[in-house]
Amino acid sequence: MFTRALVRPPGRSLVEGLTTANLGEPKYHKAVDQHAAYVEALQACGLDVCVLPPLEDFPDSCFIEDVALLTPRCAIITRPGAPSRMGEIGGMREILSQYYAAIEQVQAPGTVEGGDILMVGSHFYIGLSARTNLEGARQVIEFLKDYDLSGSTVPLQEILHLKTGIAYLEENTLAACGEILSREEFSSFTILPVPEEESYAANCIWVNGTVLVPAGFPRTSGIIQKAGYPVLEVDVSEFRKLDGGLSCLSLRF
Ligand code: GLY
Repeated sequence: MFTRALVRPPGRSLVEGLTTANLGEPKYHKAVDQHAAYVEALQACGLDVCVLPPLEDFPDSCFIEDVALLTPRCAIITRPGAPSRMGEIGGMREILSQYYAAIEQVQAPGTVEGGDILMVGSHFYIGLSARTNLEGARQVIEFLKDYDLSGSTVPLQEILHLKTGIAYLEENTLAACGEILSREEFSSFTILPVPEEESYAANCIWVNGTVLVPAGFPRTSGIIQKAGYPVLEVDVSEFRKLDGGLSCLSLRF
């Protein structure tokens, strides 16, 4: 169960965020409203949500998941692989020290973005992507071992982050699509396949028994509901325009 979340609302600079999506420019005010509704959804799932101030100097900083890995035993500050995002870690040690006695930090030449890390109990799958390199993953795995946790790598070919294509819904169950479906690493899980035309919805999040699913993906919502999970749909269309999804918008712990 999670008890807390950290979020960072978008700044006006959001419109300059990194993207490959080709869905047009995000609308700032709409994004702020969607972010507030997202916070309400997390609160409805029982989380105490700490809302940090926007960082105008960093257009992608609302995707706060990428700057840290929060485990039950330690926090690890990452080192984002996108050069424009590296400065987003500024101030994170001070923020995390309010919640964690043990804080580690990835060092150069390692790069890691939290969107590449999938927590499954005490094991952490780390996607090797354009943003997370082998050295960064190695450092994270070493830190995890110090806290009796474990990690392993998953090479990625197509998706931005590992969690672009997969979500852990507890009970040995994953929602997944695309290249993830054929990965041997996940063959022992029950997989709820997300239809290819709804691949964006593979980035859903389990929060204390409820699954938050992006609004507008009815087949995926239906599949997850049929598997027995209550679903809460949250509209994050403005963040989708920047390749961001539900998981990217919070650190849940
Ligand atoms: N726009 C989010 C990212 O590319 O990291």
